[in-house]
Amino acid sequence: MEGTPGVRSLSLLLLAGAASASVISVRDPLPDGYVAAPYYPAPYGGWADDWSESYTKAVELVSRMTLAEKTNITAGTGMFMGSALRVGFPQLCLQDGPLGVRSTTNITAFPAGITTGATWDKELMYQRGVALGEEFRGKGANFYLGPSVGPLGRKPKGGRNWEGFGSDPVLQGIAAAQTIKGVQEQGVVATLKHLIGNEQEMYRMYNPVQRAYSANIDDRTMHELYLWPFADGVRAGAGSIMTAYNDVNGSASSQNSYLINGLLKEELGFQGFVMTDWLSQISGVASALAGLDMSMPGDTIGNSIPLVGHSHWMYELTRSVLNGSVPVDRLNDMATRIVATWYKFGQDQDYPEPNYSANTGDAFGPLYPGAPLASPKGIVNEFVDVQEDHAAIAKQVAQDSITLLKNNGSFLPISTTVPLSVFGTDAQADPQGINSCTDKSCNRGLLGMGWGSGSANYPYLDDPISSLRRKASNVTYYDKDEFPEVPAPSSEDVAIVFINSDAGENTYTVEGNHGDRDADGLSAWHNGDQLVQDAAETYSNVIVVIHTVGPLVMEPWIDLPSVKAVVVAHLPGQEAGDSLTEVLFGEVSPSGHLPYSIPVSEDDYPDSVDLKSSPRLSQIQDTYTEGLYIDYRHHNRAGSKKPRFAFGHGLSYASLELASATITGVTELGGSLPPPRPPKPASPVADMDDALPPASEAYEPDGFPRIWRYLYSWLSENDADSARAVGEAGDESYPYPDGYSEEQKPGPAAGGPNGGNPALWDVAYRVSVTVANVGGDSDNAHAGKAVAQAYVQFPDDNGGYDTPVIQLRDFEKTRELAPGESQVLELRLTRRDLSVWDAGRQNWVVPNPGGRYRIWLGQASDDLNVVCYSDTLECETGVEGPV
Ligand SMILES: *[C@@H]1O[C@H](CO)[C@@H](O)[C@H](O)[C@H]1NC(C)=O
Ligand SMILES: *[C@@H]1O[C@H](CO)[C@@H](O)[C@H](O)[C@H]1NC(C)=O
Ligand SMILES: *[C@@H]1O[C@H](CO)[C@@H](O)[C@H](O)[C@H]1NC(C)=O
Ligand SMILES: *[C@@H]1O[C@H](CO)[C@@H](O)[C@H](O)[C@H]1NC(C)=O
Ligand SMILES: *[C@@H]1O[C@H](CO)[C@@H](O)[C@H](O)[C@H]1NC(C)=O
Ligand SMILES: *[C@@H]1O[C@H](CO)[C@@H](O)[C@H](O)[C@H]1NC(C)=O
Ligand SMILES: *[C@@H]1O[C@H](CO)[C@@H](O)[C@H](O)[C@H]1NC(C)=O
Repeated sequence: MEGTPGVRSLSLLLLAGAASASVISVRDPLPDGYVAAPYYPAPYGGWADDWSESYTKAVELVSRMTLAEKTNITAGTGMFMGSALRVGFPQLCLQDGPLGVRSTTNITAFPAGITTGATWDKELMYQRGVALGEEFRGKGANFYLGPSVGPLGRKPKGGRNWEGFGSDPVLQGIAAAQTIKGVQEQGVVATLKHLIGNEQEMYRMYNPVQRAYSANIDDRTMHELYLWPFADGVRAGAGSIMTAYNDVNGSASSQNSYLINGLLKEELGFQGFVMTDWLSQISGVASALAGLDMSMPGDTIGNSIPLVGHSHWMYELTRSVLNGSVPVDRLNDMATRIVATWYKFGQDQDYPEPNYSANTGDAFGPLYPGAPLASPKGIVNEFVDVQEDHAAIAKQVAQDSITLLKNNGSFLPISTTVPLSVFGTDAQADPQGINSCTDKSCNRGLLGMGWGSGSANYPYLDDPISSLRRKASNVTYYDKDEFPEVPAPSSEDVAIVFINSDAGENTYTVEGNHGDRDADGLSAWHNGDQLVQDAAETYSNVIVVIHTVGPLVMEPWIDLPSVKAVVVAHLPGQEAGDSLTEVLFGEVSPSGHLPYSIPVSEDDYPDSVDLKSSPRLSQIQDTYTEGLYIDYRHHNRAGSKKPRFAFGHGLSYASLELASATITGVTELGGSLPPPRPPKPASPVADMDDALPPASEAYEPDGFPRIWRYLYSWLSENDADSARAVGEAGDESYPYPDGYSEEQKPGPAAGGPNGGNPALWDVAYRVSVTVANVGGDSDNAHAGKAVAQAYVQFPDDNGGYDTPVIQLRDFEKTRELAPGESQVLELRLTRRDLSVWDAGRQNWVVPNPGGRYRIWLGQASDDLNVVCYSDTLECETGVEGPV
């Protein structure tokens, strides 16, 4: 091929060492009550209306494929995707990551997910998605491997929370849906990940001597927290889903039949396809039966080294179909789901071919990078510049995320003429080069993104110190993290102290942090707390600027009288400079809000959300005993410690108020249970030929020029013939799991196409709220944007379901309001928003449809002074909040 398709680069760090398959085949005991229940068979795709045209085309194309062609497109070849060129199905290019096209150049390094969540701005979330989609398409990548909503942020020290949007399922779900919409409108397929329970990086993977940890999640918690944003993403039309490395209830995510077949494909009615995370597949037949559709990059892990040409699928899947262990209809469904997704996003029409390599920055390189010594070379990078004007949207997201936590005496904004002393290496770009560490696996200079596969190269970096120097007249910079000797400051002088906290993927350990923040915890890195304290001792005016992946404990300095202002700029990406300084100097008001709570102490969380480790080689059991009580749901619980800054908190220079509100009933709730789901129509996959194919469909063509270490789907004639003989004889010796069945099911009551029972999304109540900038016309009045947040409180008599006091259900942000201006925002509560998941009834239940649901409105979870009642349809303002 001309020009190599780029795929995400592999990390092989965990895979060294001798192998022993037997060790990991033993299941460790789960805590009492947790089970990996069977759910078979894998539901066919293709029964949702909006997918039917793509499925019709896909069924037609797949029906013309041979066995070896079908198995070829369900896995990577080790580096690239398999193809079925004879019938016109190309190799596809699947590319990281959530904030930009990874491992290449001439792209935009967008703000991270957590930054995007902190904007609380649905339109910006969507615009960022559009821009990301344009860049992936421009590089010829078919798939955007994002957004990430798993981890959800259960563990404040979790390594990859920053790739997602915040520690709340609604914030995650809305942001993911907006991203997916934006990306997929460009014809790029989004891949929602990681299903599910990847709340910790350490011990996430199987290796030859230890199983990955098991996330043990009860059914209600699964539905109301962790699966919730996946439901939103499926409803938004996500074309593919990536499974996690870890187990769920003791069964690997990539082969957990209850998770993939039951929850995702049956209940959420997911019509696209399911892929593994890289090298996470641990079985062949079992994963196919459990609903996995694509293995990436196709290699085995566990009993061999990757990239030597061994696979659980490819030639083995061909064998498993011929010998009858994997039913032909399962393979038909796998291949059809993949091809239908390709049609659904119009990728059969003029989709650009990849014109970059994720494996080298050189123009010339190996055409088969998995076989570096043997490969012919050619042009692999054309350096197509895909940035367009995306810097503007990147900057807007970075700016609108900026969260002002403290501003004593309206200290900010400051004038550009005050003398500024700037401290901390985080104010400047990495002096050794903005992309000097692979996948950002170091914390040197400005922290614009975390590390690992969720990172991207900066095309440039607008660092804060350069921006400060451009704008302010008297700037002195001390590029150290120890407090230096300084001339005695006057009372005029202002110190700006930059500190940060980093995290990333477990592939790399950075300054003792194994992906998760296990070494530094929730404290600033590089002695940041000391730097702030020292500055606060010398200067009477200190501004603290924080770049962080998540919550940071601020107690060592937050109450010091000279710490006048604290600003969290999250992970801004390439536009870190002006986006920040325009806020500091008052060109715009800050309008970000915390997408998580900031605790007083690391100990203010349930013990069960601590990082787990194991001195022995037994499987780590990570059991979600806290249930629904994470982040603010926990902090608001009786007996828990209040946080220092609550979820949703964020100040403005403007005086923004929620002035009045009205509530309207829209769709009658009726009873507790939703109206019945629509019946599940037949799938066209059911009509495909499921006869055992002839062995010849698996024969390797004579003289095919195999590339060493690549994976192929063919078998030798001998192998194909003998497997076919086993299949024909109807050998039932394969040990099918308990509960195995080949009978398609009608689907559960809560199920339905694209996210579940459509009635769950009926809008039950609409709330309109008038937001006003009540600043007078004095010189000190500022324009600003406000966020209205809506939290539900269930009726006092709620049928005995233990439910957090308040839970976020919707939010909206105003445009920039000048003093005196106001805007009406509209928020919605759906049936699902007013329901709990009843594990016994296996359905969403409105506990008390006629009871008094309180819809609390405010600008932070602890600043809710407007309330609307579902029973009387009245609203009150100026009330005392519930927490
Ligand atoms: C895990 O076990 C719990 C408790 O039995 C059960 O409610 C839940 O459905 C199980 N989840 C999965 C994915 O198997
Ligand atoms: C499988 O895909 C590879 C890579 O595109 C290709 O070389 C090979 O011919 C394909 N095999 C079949 C059976 O089409
Ligand atoms: C594109 O990338 C190449 C290689 O990294 C670099 O030399 C070139 O300056 C970049 N062009 C632009 C416009 O960024
Ligand atoms: C069919 O082949 C697969 C893959 O090699 C193997 O796991 C399975 O046990 C085989 N089934 C039978 C009945 O031989
Ligand atoms: C590279 O990308 C450009 C822009 O999308 C596209 O027009 C071109 O066809 C691609 N080049 C190749 C060789 O596919
Ligand atoms: C800059 O500020 C410092 C500290 O206040 C002061 O000593 C110095 O004179 C100022 N320089 C100029 C050029 O104003
Ligand atoms: C805010 O500043 C005033 C003086 O301007 C001081 O009296 C007060 O203690 C400060 N409050 C905090 C929380 O730092």
